[in-house]
Order: sequence, then structure tokens, then C-alpha cells
Amino acid sequence: MKKPTIKIALDGPSGSGKSTMAKLLAKEMGFVYIDTGSLYRTIGLYVERKGLDSDDITGIVSLLPEINITMQLVDGGGVVFLNGEKIGDEIRTPKISKYASDVSKVPEVRSFLLELQRNIAENNNVIMDGRDIGTVILPDAQVKIFMDANAETRARRRFDELRAKGQDVKYEDVLSDIIWRDKNDSERALAPAVPAEDAIMHDNSGLNIQENLEALKKIIKEKIGNAL
Ligand code: DC
Repeated sequence: MKKPTIKIALDGPSGSGKSTMAKLLAKEMGFVYIDTGSLYRTIGLYVERKGLDSDDITGIVSLLPEINITMQLVDGGGVVFLNGEKIGDEIRTPKISKYASDVSKVPEVRSFLLELQRNIAENNNVIMDGRDIGTVILPDAQVKIFMDANAETRARRRFDELRAKGQDVKYEDVLSDIIWRDKNDSERALAPAVPAEDAIMHDNSGLNIQENLEALKKIIKEKIGNAL
């Protein structure tokens, strides 16, 4: 019988540092890193390209049959393909963030992406970052961590990240975008961004990258030390 894979669910709101941490942890542990937000962003991109409003639920659902999303594992990370087109930083703009948050509320979109995420975790040791990994996608994950930080810390991180990519954004706009997305993502009816009952809460507001990484490694070791 196939040996079960190790699954680590890293959930939390935008800017909580999930992707930075998940990438570093995956590299150290030799796990595959999956950024599930990139999947919702890719659907958001497709919907935006088709000229639909982000809240046009009927329109979004009608587009799904023409969307084929796949992920290729390259250097321990998942590269997303949309109908064969490699997707990069075009999904990382404030506009597509809003589209992603809105399309992620649509039940058909969530079920459309479910199998893809589960398949990857069935075949690889993974660290998956998202909102509902511990609650819906991988309820049997051996480690579930819910990361959080206050809105200002998260906005500052996202602002620095976007500026470093050359995007001309204002801190105030990034902060209000984060506050809007927190509300939109956590108050939706289906798979809201809330911690699983058995998740370990990890607030990293005052921590730098190294401290954050050490704290997460400690949590993981306590949970699956022997399995590594
Ligand atoms: O992690 P991110 O900011 O790139 O995610 C973009 C949007 O996708 C976010 O606003 C909520 C949604 N999302 C989700 O609903 N479930 C996930 N597992 C990951 C992201």
C-alpha cells in the first residue's frame, strides 16, 4: 500500500506571512509548496479578461466549463497553467486580488478547485497555504496552523512586497484592501477563512522572518517530529 503523505495546512488571512513561511519551510523539509490562493486568482484573472464584473455569479459559473487549470511541480513549488498558458505575476495585482476574493465565494468555483488540491496532497508531502485547507481541503492534515497578524502589520508586508515588484501602490489603499478582503473572506457562507477546531493559532505580529520560522518549526516538530 502507498505510504500516506504528510500534509501541513497553513491557513490565515492575506498578508499573514503564509506564503513566505510555507516556501521556507517546504525548502528546508523537502516538501512541495502549494499556494492555493493562486488558483482562485487565476480564475479571477480569467473572469476579468472576459470583461465580467467580479460579483457576476451566474456569469462566473457559466465560464467554468471553458477553464482548465493545472499545476506543474517545478523546484518544489506549483506553477499554474490556465488553458495551457503559464501564469505569473499578472495575478498579483490589487484588481485581481478583488476578483479572486469574489470568485472564491462562489460554491461552484470552490468545488471546481477541490480535486486538484487534494490530488497534489495525496501524491506529495505538502505544505499548502490557503484559507480552508485545514477545514475543507485537507481535514486529515497532520499539522494545521492558522497564522495571523494585525491588519497594519499585514498591510505593511503586502505594501513592501508590491513596491518591491515595482507596483505603484499607496499604503492606505493596501490597508483598506486588506480590511475589505478580511471581511469578504471570513464572512462568506461557504468555507470561510476561519481556523479548524484542531488548528494551532500562531500570531506573528511582532516576529521577524527568522523568529517566525523557528516558531513554526517548533510547532511542526511537536506534531510530527517522528514522522520526519
Ligand atoms: O492567498 P491569496 O491572498 O493569494 O488568495 C486570494 C483570494 O483567494 C483570497 O482573497 C481568498 C481566496 N482563497 C480562498 O478562498 N481559499 C483558499 N484556500 C485560498 C485563497
